[in-house]
Amino acid sequence: MKIAPSILSADFARLGEEVAAVDAAGADYIHIDVMDGHFVPNLSFGAAIIKAIRPASGKPFDVHLMIDPAAPYLQDFADAGADIITVHAEADKHIHRSLQLIRGLGKKAGVSINPGTDESVLAPLLDDVDLILVMTVNPGFGGQSFIDSQLEKIARVRAMIGERAIELEVDGGIKPDNIKAVADAGAGVVVAGSAVFGGGEYQKAIAQLRAAAE
Ligand code: DX5
Ligand code: ZN
Repeated sequence: MKIAPSILSADFARLGEEVAAVDAAGADYIHIDVMDGHFVPNLSFGAAIIKAIRPASGKPFDVHLMIDPAAPYLQDFADAGADIITVHAEADKHIHRSLQLIRGLGKKAGVSINPGTDESVLAPLLDDVDLILVMTVNPGFGGQSFIDSQLEKIARVRAMIGERAIELEVDGGIKPDNIKAVADAGAGVVVAGSAVFGGGEYQKAIAQLRAAAE
């Protein structure tokens, strides 16, 4: 199981140090939540911040765009140092075009769906994505509770992926007590914000999540 700490729960005053710390603590990806106050009811940060923290880690930057529209900003996020760029199916009128644009920029293309979105929207996109991100909270904030009904969806998405080389990532409310169920449903990557940054001991928190997933 890959662990992607979400820096939404980091100390923003020391963001570069926080990124370096979770890298050293064993993070596989650095998960970066970009919010626009329109697609989701919160604002976070944009490409300039990502560029500023890029030197802090050599790990892949997993950029989760909760912005509508996303297409006009994809080039900026690629230039800032994103490795995986994920757009929401609900936020994009031309999702297929955005996914092709991301791959055209030489980055891995991800598509995300909210808890209320049926996974059938993913079916026409399977040849155009490198990662599927299933939300297990309604996006916008860290520290929310995992929505159990999404476990069956994760399993259905895993089945849809079949033998394709698509990573299945799950985001929202992941804790040591539910990560095993998420792993069993078929996730290969989990995002963890408050579970990693909440306690202060990042290495211990990441190791605990990894062990609980086994
Ligand atoms: C929610 C974000 C998540 C969030 C996860 O909108 O996409 O990545 O930071 O935080 P936790 O792990 O605390 O639910
Ligand atoms: Zn996220």
